Order: sequence, then C-alpha cells, then structure tokens
Amino acid sequence: MSQIEVKNLSYKYGVGTPFEVTALDNISFSVEKGEFIGLIGHTGSGKSTLLQCFNGLLKPEGELYIDGVNICEKNNAKGICFKVGLVFQYPEHQLFEDTVYKDIAFGPKNMGLSEGEIKDRVCEALKFSGLSEEILEKSPFELSGGQKRRVAVAGVIAMRPEILVLDEPAAGLDPIGRDSILANLREYHKKEGKTVILSSHNMDDIARNCEKVLVMNSARLEMFETISEVFKRSERLKEIGLDVPMLTSVFEELLKEGYPVNSGIYTVEQAVNEIIAAKDGGKNA
Ligand SMILES: Nc1ncnc2c1ncn2[C@@H]1O[C@H](COP(=O)(O)OP(=O)(O)OP(=O)(O)O)[C@@H](O)[C@H]1O
Ligand SMILES: [Mg+2]
Repeated sequence: MSQIEVKNLSYKYGVGTPFEVTALDNISFSVEKGEFIGLIGHTGSGKSTLLQCFNGLLKPEGELYIDGVNICEKNNAKGICFKVGLVFQYPEHQLFEDTVYKDIAFGPKNMGLSEGEIKDRVCEALKFSGLSEEILEKSPFELSGGQKRRVAVAGVIAMRPEILVLDEPAAGLDPIGRDSILANLREYHKKEGKTVILSSHNMDDIARNCEKVLVMNSARLEMFETISEVFKRSERLKEIGLDVPMLTSVFEELLKEGYPVNSGIYTVEQAVNEIIAAKDGGKNA
C-alpha cells in the first residue's frame, strides 16, 4: 500500500456561481513513504489547491488515501493535520497567535504534549528554521516576510509530521536562508525517513532536492516521473510555461549542435561526467 494514493481527484472553486473554476481535474498518482516529491506548474495550474487537499483543508471530489484512509470521506480527516504538516504559500495565512512561541507551540499543544515536550519541540523547530530565541516573544505580525515564513515552517516541523507538504517554502527568502531551509528539509527527509512534497517555481531547487516531480498544467497532471525524465522533456515544459534548470538547457543546446551528450542533465556532477565522457569520444550512459 502506498502512503499517499490520489484517485480521480477534482476540485472546483465557486461551484454554481459565474466564477466557477476547475482547479483540479481528475488527478491520480501515488507516493511511497520516504519519497521527496517536487510539484511544479505554471501560475494557476492548481498546485496550492492540490497541496491543501492533503491535510483535509479542502474537500475535493474523488479519493485521497493517507495510509489507507480516504480523507475525502466524512469524519476521516480528523487529526490528519498532525500527520500531514502543511506550510502555506502565504505564511501569514497560518500565523495567528500573539507571540512566535505560541504560534510554534500551537500544533504540539493540540497534540496533547506536555509543557516540557512542547518547549523542546519549539527549540528544535527554531533551529530547523534558522531563527534565534530572541524572536520567541515577538508578535509574528511585526516580522519580515522571510521571518514569517520561517516561523510558519517551524510551527509545522514542531509537529514532526510523517508527511511534510510545503507550498513554495523558499519564496521571499534570501539565497542563504533558502539554502539552509532546503538543506534542513533534506536532512529531515533523509535522517527521519519522512515524506516531503514541495512546490516551487525555482527549477534549480527542484533539481537539487527532489527525486520525482509532479507537473501540473491547467488543473491536470501532465507528468509524474523521475526528475531526469521530466527534464528530458524540456520542450514540453517550455510549452506549458515552465523553465528548465540552466544546465539542462545548456546540454539540450549542445545536443542540438551535434555534440555526443545526453539530455536530462540537471546537476553539476552529471554535467562534469558528460563533458569528460564526450571528450573521451561519445555518450557514456
Ligand atoms: N480561493 C479561491 N477562490 C476562487 N478561485 C481560486 C481560489 N484559489 C485559487 N483559485 C483558482 O484556482 C486555480 C488554481 O489555483 P492555485 O492557487 O491552486 O494555483 P497555483 O498553481 O498554486 O498558482 P501559483 O503558482 O500562482 O501559486 C486558479 O485558476 C485560481 O485562480
Ligand atoms: Mg500556489
């Protein structure tokens, strides 16, 4: 049994009004425990809508199983937000307490943990997000956009969810902040064996972190493949309004010029190997 199974999932906003929009159209895929999945797609393709279905926030049509339980069925979504932690695209949508401490402690408190355990979890989550303790007594609303995002990430990490779902977690962070959050996510995934699903507009972040990629296009699932397979289809990605990593484009151009290299290259290590192999006389793969 897969940890997540999505079957014929559809979602419409504004049903029955002149503003009705189909945001998800008959989506099906499954995710195994411990996978690191990327989610890409042009603006408005349905990424945030899909991610909000995972913790029961939206009620789609179809089936969405988490560990065998269909959370689209009445009453089955109870407690799912502890198992599936969702970091929203706009972090101000999930900060509401009067201090940062209370905000990060909110999830663990609702899980019924002791005061001591809650404190430990808050400290651990602060470190994860790269925040210092002085921030704990501040109001979340006096923080910068980047700090708000880190607090939102910390609040979800503090619940130690089995499945971590992040909607553009690095948007608005400076490059150092972005790299440190992504590195901590990789560690959470590797050390703890947790499943991570991450949406991003930054193809290099997707290339560096994810094993498989979901590609959304106008409410539909266009591809669900390994990262290398997805970036091999760079022409199609461009047609549906997406970029490819810089390295992928460089190797596509070399291939077009007749150089003996492979497509679907997205890391520096792969690029170096390709160049060495090409120098030695041809495609190595
Ligand atoms: N609350 C809402 N009410 C009505 N329509 C909505 C709402 N949220 C999203 N939509 C519409 O649903 C579709 C999918 O939106 P969604 O936010 O899921 O896309 P996205 O891929 O996350 O976009 P982005 O890359 O800009 O974050 C879009 O047409 C959007 O306008
Ligand atoms: Mg979105």
